[in-house]
Amino acid sequence: MALALSRNQAILVTGGAGYIGSHTVQLLLARGYQVTVADNLSRGHRHAVDPRFLREVDISDAAAMDRVFAEQQFAAVIHFAAFIAVGESARAPELYFANNVGGSLTLLTAMIRHGVKRLVFSSTAAVYGTPATVPIREELPFAPVSPYGESKVMVETMLGWFDRIHALRSIALRYFNAAGADPAGRLGEEHDPETHLIPLLFHAIRTGEPITIFGEDYPTPDGTCIRDYIHVSDLAEAHILALEALLAPDAASMALNVGTGSGHSVREVIRAVEDVTGKKVPFVMGPRRDGDPPALVADSARLRAILGWQPKHSDLREIVATAWQFDQHR
Ligand code: UFG
Repeated sequence: MALALSRNQAILVTGGAGYIGSHTVQLLLARGYQVTVADNLSRGHRHAVDPRFLREVDISDAAAMDRVFAEQQFAAVIHFAAFIAVGESARAPELYFANNVGGSLTLLTAMIRHGVKRLVFSSTAAVYGTPATVPIREELPFAPVSPYGESKVMVETMLGWFDRIHALRSIALRYFNAAGADPAGRLGEEHDPETHLIPLLFHAIRTGEPITIFGEDYPTPDGTCIRDYIHVSDLAEAHILALEALLAPDAASMALNVGTGSGHSVREVIRAVEDVTGKKVPFVMGPRRDGDPPALVADSARLRAILGWQPKHSDLREIVATAWQFDQHR
């Protein structure tokens, strides 16, 4: 029923020219939604979005957002637009509070003004900080260890108040490690500067410059950090399911982890990259990176039970193979 209701509805996607945003836009279009992308292209890529759908605006610009909302009645907003680099946030927290928190507040205010009351929000495992045990359930208290994580906590907190006071229903998706690329090869990960492990391993192969592995003395079986890598297409699917839940008449606000429930160490990822590419990864062992938890693995039972989500592309080798295919054709 929710499926039939939702087709042809207009969805505003902020940050739709970014990595996860562009994959989600592609899936929305394939499922028959009308899509408008609001992106200032400060970190996203013009070529990742069909120009017919793109509005080049900053979510912090209230007047520009008013114009976007005046164009048509959106059924919902999917809000990706944000800065995402943990290290950068630790050097310049003001950027993260201005863009991620201030920008979200301007967006939420515009939504209320224009009567749009459904939001899917990009949150992160960074809201949990350094949890003592894994897998991580959503009930764990917020304990961010970076301004980036704090900025997402602040928006989730605002969403709680907007739910109670303005009946704005939202689903916050707390991503674990997004990775991989569109299996059809059209889109992929293109951060600048790149900080994520898998594209950096490819860079090391391409250039011969060794990548530094951040720590081999963690309390994990092989001493390197464990992460829950989730294919960007499975992540995009979680957004569609969250959107459909929000478009149903009995929509309720919630926060859901998006991860597979399986962790892989940095050494395992290196092995997968070597298997898939047939090439050796040059690497050196270095000290731990500040703020890196030893292990981050999702308990995704809620996502599976409530939204009926299941990962389909998140086998580590498929993640690496799709990312490698994209990397080869850039
Ligand atoms: N790593 C290295 N060397 C590198 C880069 C990464 O050893 O050059 C290691 C990291 O220490 C970590 C793993 O590879 O153990 C993955 O690192 P990424 O930087 O790819 O991802 P993170 O786990 O640090 O970050 C992810 C998301 C963030 C989110 C964070 C939550 O990308 O958005 O999880 O802690 F905030």
